[in-house]
Amino acid sequence: MGFAAEPLEARRVVVLISGNGSNLQALIDEPDLGGEIVAVISDQPAAYGLERARQAGIEAKHLSAKSFSQREDYDRELSRLIDDYQPDLIILAGFMRILSPFFTIKYHGKLLNVHPSLLPKYKGLNTHQRVLEAGDSEHGVSIHFVTEELDGGPLIVQAKVSVEVDDDETSLAKKVQQQEHQLYPLIARWYLQGRLQLKGDTVTLDGQPLPKEGVLYS
Ligand code: GAR
Repeated sequence: MGFAAEPLEARRVVVLISGNGSNLQALIDEPDLGGEIVAVISDQPAAYGLERARQAGIEAKHLSAKSFSQREDYDRELSRLIDDYQPDLIILAGFMRILSPFFTIKYHGKLLNVHPSLLPKYKGLNTHQRVLEAGDSEHGVSIHFVTEELDGGPLIVQAKVSVEVDDDETSLAKKVQQQEHQLYPLIARWYLQGRLQLKGDTVTLDGQPLPKEGVLYS
């Protein structure tokens, strides 16, 4: 007599956003994510990503930073909200706040970020403008685990885009986001399938350490 296999519990994902949410949409649209997006939380009330979440039947929450004078106080409240959903993975998808060590240490190894540059170049804001000003011939996207160092956590994947003479910030942003929308669901799936892990400061895929620059897609 056979035993019915216990259904595997769906892995739970919380996505943090601040704006348009096109990366969130790519995650929502991924048919084989390997988990369920159980909540979307924004620090901005008007973030269009909240509307995208509602349209997909996902709980959409807003937590304004206005009533918190200290960064860590906000992050503690945010983490209370996140923990209500007991996520296996937290995805920063255009969440434009600097996170306190309280937050990054608490979620070490289960916090992913996408950044629009070939890290370690151009940490912080206005990356497309800075690439154009520097006259770089290539630009790109990085996906990494989040640590205390702003945009400095261990890299998982990078993809390059070429910078042409007629590119401007808008066209570069479009090229970069095309890569983001392909790669972020893939990386989330690797994580949710248990293939991708952070051990200390080393990223492993299927148990093998990745190079410091992550996997390169070009
Ligand atoms: C994305 O391009 C992402 O790389 C960037 O914000 C955009 C959000 O777009 N993130 C950062 O700059 C984080 N440092 P979206 O809201 O349409 O997904």
